[in-house]
Amino acid sequence: MSDVTVVDHPLVQHKLTLMRVKDTSTASFRRLIREMATLLCYEATRDLALEEVEIETPLTRTRSPLLAGKKLVFASILRAGTGLLDGMLDLVPAARVAHIGLYRDPQTLQAVEYYFKAPEDLDERLVIVVDPMLATGHSAIAAIDRLKERGATNIRFVCVLASPEGLSALQGHHPDVSIITAAIDEGLNEHAYIVPGLGDAGDRIFGTK
Ligand code: URA
Repeated sequence: MSDVTVVDHPLVQHKLTLMRVKDTSTASFRRLIREMATLLCYEATRDLALEEVEIETPLTRTRSPLLAGKKLVFASILRAGTGLLDGMLDLVPAARVAHIGLYRDPQTLQAVEYYFKAPEDLDERLVIVVDPMLATGHSAIAAIDRLKERGATNIRFVCVLASPEGLSALQGHHPDVSIITAAIDEGLNEHAYIVPGLGDAGDRIFGTK
């Protein structure tokens, strides 16, 4: 079973509360989710491999660690995942970015891909999938299915809020994918919204409601 990390850092919990408040403005929500993304990214990258390189400081030569291997990939599930990208890129500016567009077919309720663009060599990179809300888990599962079809083998999932239903669905389908979240909420309502939640993350980021 994949591991789940709930980031209980006081700054994360403080910012999450402000994000939940329904009267938080679009501008504030956008700033908060960017800051939240940076803090979640810090946790999601805590165990990245390092390699020692030789450098010259103003005083002497020494050996010092740098990130090893190929640049990692942030894979954003459209559209709300975009809200997490800037904060992640603030911390890892050289990361590559993948975009995955999915919509839910109203008849079959299955996730249908309408857009996919990612670096070619996914098999050689750590891929961190980002989507603020892990609700039913359908889009996270479908996005990770697509990434694995294109070769990705080392995948993590970062969200702001997770439901217990979404967590067990994602863990059931992709037990190799570790999950990093700021909180696990009570559950889903009849419209598959996370409760207490923060509403529709995409609407709150883009001010579409
Ligand atoms: N997507 C959202 O944006 N919010 C939810 O509560 C569930 C899914």
